[in-house]
Amino acid sequence: MTVPLLKIGAVLSTMAMVTNWMSQTLPSLVGLNGTTISRGGTSEKITLFPSPEDGWQIYSSAQDPDGKCICTVVAPAQNMCTRDPRSRQLRQLMEKVQNITQSMEVLDLRTYRDLQYVRNTESLMKVLDNKLKVVSESQKPLNPKAFQELKVKMDELLPLLPVLDQYKSDARMIVQLKDEVRNLSLLLLAIQEEMGAYDYEELQQRVLILEERLHACMQKLGCGKLTGVSNPITIRASGSRFGSWMTDTMTPSSDSRVWFMDGYYKGRRVLEYRSINDFMKGQNFVQHLLPHPWAGTGHVVYNGSLYYNKYQSNIIVKYHFRSRSVLVQRSLNSAGYNNTFPYSWGGFSDIDLMTDENGLWAVYTTNQNAGNIVISRLEPQTLEILQTWDTGYPKRSAGESFMICGTLYVTNSHLAGAKIYFAYYTNSSSYEYTDIPFHNQYSHISMLDYNPRERVLYTWNNGHQVLYNVTLFHVIKTSGEL
Ligand SMILES: *[C@@H]1O[C@H](CO)[C@@H](O)[C@H](O)[C@H]1NC(C)=O
Ligand SMILES: *[C@@H]1O[C@H](CO)[C@@H](O)[C@H](O)[C@H]1NC(C)=O
Ligand SMILES: *[C@@H]1O[C@H](CO)[C@@H](O)[C@H](O)[C@H]1NC(C)=O
Ligand SMILES: *[C@@H]1O[C@H](CO)[C@@H](O)[C@H](O)[C@H]1NC(C)=O
Ligand SMILES: *[C@@H]1O[C@H](CO)[C@@H](O)[C@H](O)[C@H]1NC(C)=O
Ligand SMILES: *[C@@H]1O[C@H](CO)[C@@H](O)[C@H](O)[C@H]1NC(C)=O
Ligand SMILES: *[C@@H]1O[C@H](CO)[C@@H](O)[C@H](O)[C@H]1NC(C)=O
Repeated sequence: MTVPLLKIGAVLSTMAMVTNWMSQTLPSLVGLNGTTISRGGTSEKITLFPSPEDGWQIYSSAQDPDGKCICTVVAPAQNMCTRDPRSRQLRQLMEKVQNITQSMEVLDLRTYRDLQYVRNTESLMKVLDNKLKVVSESQKPLNPKAFQELKVKMDELLPLLPVLDQYKSDARMIVQLKDEVRNLSLLLLAIQEEMGAYDYEELQQRVLILEERLHACMQKLGCGKLTGVSNPITIRASGSRFGSWMTDTMTPSSDSRVWFMDGYYKGRRVLEYRSINDFMKGQNFVQHLLPHPWAGTGHVVYNGSLYYNKYQSNIIVKYHFRSRSVLVQRSLNSAGYNNTFPYSWGGFSDIDLMTDENGLWAVYTTNQNAGNIVISRLEPQTLEILQTWDTGYPKRSAGESFMICGTLYVTNSHLAGAKIYFAYYTNSSSYEYTDIPFHNQYSHISMLDYNPRERVLYTWNNGHQVLYNVTLFHVIKTSGEL
């Protein structure tokens, strides 16, 4: 706090009198214009707006422990008005709350979707359980093998129920957090209107606590293990057999521009559609001509820039759409290129760039790694490698791969019957084989990427632009509240 406080500790008689005196007599005595902010609870603050010449303010706390009134006089800051440190601080606080609000939106959407999944699973299980009960209690003969199988499945599922319950209480927590954010925003708005007295330390503290809780909440609910992929939705059929399309994986939800890059080699033309609706109708687009041609389909748009692999090299280029310029380019050390280590479908897909909740990643391989998939986390501004993992999974046997919450998921084919077959956890440098099916509707996937903002998989399937929802599940630690 930069505002000097000087307490003059004027002790006055009864509260009613004090309030009266403060709001009527004092302003006229001192010649200041006055207003009142009413806070909930027992105390009331009276603010006297700074006059143009000086910025003296007088606070009264109506109830100190002895029932007396203490006046606090705040001396004027050096520079008033817009340079007033308090108004700057207020702006910062409001921006913070704005940020928190945006994050809440994302979190809310995610939780809502997962909750739907949880609800469906739950009711499905209950129905199944009831059916089993009816069947087992009735005397009718039944295919005993099928029944036994069903029963085993059910028993496996039952322990999920308490987890589901926990999930529902987590969702309630989000609702509460939203409530708090809303309250705080209202409070801040009110203060902005009445710009004057408030305990900024307290406000700051509240925002800090909110931020911490939100962070914990995000950690707890935002990420998880991939457990399912929805049915595909075909957005459009356009372009050749191979290509890529995407939205920005980071900017706020108001920016829904879609980028379209047809073909897998030597391309330079990127189409930018204003929205997904425009993309569906093939209207309202502008064209960007890249200064260097691309290779493969592993491009990604992150925070207003396109990251892509330059044709016949292992150079990664960061192209900024708004300024239409290359901000940085850098070679990915010893990464194979020029169809040396592509995915199973070929197509110069040696270097696959992607983003997730944790930032920007490159998936590729090198001679030293014997063609096994290598993951590097990249610094988005400089493209420097921050950390690298060797997954041990042969890249040529992979159809595609995508990253969710720091875990790389690899499909075993680009053709019909493909499934998500392998998962590598960068957090623990360990892997596991998975068996997550998804519907490969057009039987040739040449691009598959996760968008953490929308929590959706973007794919290019044989000239079709297709989306999948994903379900992420997390094991909830019951110890410790938030
Ligand atoms: C206080 O100031 C505002 C604008 O600065 C003015 O509209 C209002 O009439 C003033 N009130 C008194 C009591 O002087
Ligand atoms: C709000 O978020 C933006 C973008 O993430 C960041 O640049 C800015 O510093 C944040 N503001 C505050 C006050 O945290
Ligand atoms: C938000 O404000 C309302 C009305 O003032 C109050 O009932 C509610 O308890 C507050 N919520 C939180 C989480 O502080
Ligand atoms: C790593 O991440 C996975 C999936 O997000 C999670 O299931 C696992 O518990 C994490 N492991 C560690 C050591 O944090
Ligand atoms: C996003 O881009 C803006 C400028 O375009 C920059 O200020 C900001 O730091 C970037 N954020 C990240 C996380 O890279
Ligand atoms: C890339 O491969 C082609 C043949 O497939 C070859 O003609 C060309 O010289 C290679 N380019 C580089 C830079 O290695
Ligand atoms: C994903 O889920 C949302 C919300 O349930 C729904 O509106 C959207 O159509 C779904 N998208 C896909 C690709 O299934």
